[in-house]
Amino acid sequence: MQNSGRVNFGSKIGAILAAAGSAVGLGNIWRFPYEAGNHGGAAFILIYLVCVLLMGMPIMIAEFTVGRRAKASTGRAFSVLAPGTQWKWIGFLGVLAGLLILGYYLVVAGWTLEYILQTVVNGTVQQQPEDFVNAFQNFSKDPFRPVLWLLVFLLLTHYIVVKGVKDGIEKSSKIFMPVLFILIVVLAVCSISLPNAGKGLEFLLKPDFSKVNADVFLGAMGQAFFSLSLGMGCLSTYASYFGSDTQLGKTALSVGVIDSMVAILAGLIIFPAAFSVGIQPDAGPSLIFITLPNVFQQAFGGVPILATVFSLMFYVLLALAALTSTISLHEVVTAYLNERFNLKRSRAALFVTGFCIVTGILSSLSLGVWETKFFGLGFFDLLDFVTAKMMLPINGLLVCLFVGWYLKKSISREELTNGGVLRAPYYSTYMFLLRYVVPVAIFLIMINELGFI
Ligand code: TRP
Repeated sequence: MQNSGRVNFGSKIGAILAAAGSAVGLGNIWRFPYEAGNHGGAAFILIYLVCVLLMGMPIMIAEFTVGRRAKASTGRAFSVLAPGTQWKWIGFLGVLAGLLILGYYLVVAGWTLEYILQTVVNGTVQQQPEDFVNAFQNFSKDPFRPVLWLLVFLLLTHYIVVKGVKDGIEKSSKIFMPVLFILIVVLAVCSISLPNAGKGLEFLLKPDFSKVNADVFLGAMGQAFFSLSLGMGCLSTYASYFGSDTQLGKTALSVGVIDSMVAILAGLIIFPAAFSVGIQPDAGPSLIFITLPNVFQQAFGGVPILATVFSLMFYVLLALAALTSTISLHEVVTAYLNERFNLKRSRAALFVTGFCIVTGILSSLSLGVWETKFFGLGFFDLLDFVTAKMMLPINGLLVCLFVGWYLKKSISREELTNGGVLRAPYYSTYMFLLRYVVPVAIFLIMINELGFI
């Protein structure tokens, strides 16, 4: 079922930047530092990088293979490649995971807008460390403001998704990604040069393996899936817009390297800064909203305007990083509704946006006025746990089995070599990881966490 009228990304670099735009997001700058902070720092980061290399890369190539081969969004790709089988459920699981992730991701994305506004209105006035904590808590528990911001963010996402693959997704990634990268490097350099930054660097670079337990493995694996946008067919949907000359292996490697670099750089911003002002890095999800404003103030204490400019740039770029990711999440579901039910793109997007308004509001309220707990977690934390630590790895496992065992080897080789044009000397290593190592590792990590071993 080749759909020749299908839109593609305009260039190879456009494809890489769009995929990297999906991968680089709040996962790198917000989630990675607090997960690393909660799990003891350097040892977590090492295990994380091993997960990226040995699990993330093979799964990413596998997702690319499925998407480009089927030329269909993930919700349909498995039915195209394996008609009449039960494999189609992988696609549905992915679409569902995407919707649930958007539900809480948008809340944090919305916070970035509030911080932009606050910086513009108030600048970075001299405050005590507790003031930053209080300001964040009052804001995030408020029933209205965060909801308003998440709606604004959702509308922006909606607008770009409706504009389409080339003019919306590709164009925005081409502008946002380079700017993001420059800024993050500048900020990391500033942070490392703060007094007492050494302790933070040590936390980041000197592993303490006595802290490693089952949780650390699950955390690192979940973070790898989340950060690389794997396990819900996001990159597989993007790969369906790849041209026939896009190199799958090279693109996966570029995305993996860019994503890991941004995560490490985010660590280099947060940890030296946190230790420098005496804040423990285990504050959880609020880490960058409490620590960083404090850092900006301290780092440029003498020159408030500089602090304001930097703070502004940081939150603007955080918002942009989040935006390229929310676009990708939204796109997966929109493309599915568009193809499966023949809905117009704009109408399909409207359904997705409508659903996210509900889940977004619920997640936001669960951090304040709505106190109901599910298995001991609020709605926001529940969505994060169920998606990153359950649905994404399970989906990743199924994709491995599909490409490793079900799909004909000739197909995966053809996709990897662009029909024999390229050499792919890593093919047998890739297949070995995909067939044996990754599925067994995911399985062991998951049953370990559930307490069976
Ligand atoms: N990877 C993005 C981030 O790091 C979030 C994201 C976008 C995502 N698309 C996804 C996570 C698909 C899991 C699956 O912020």
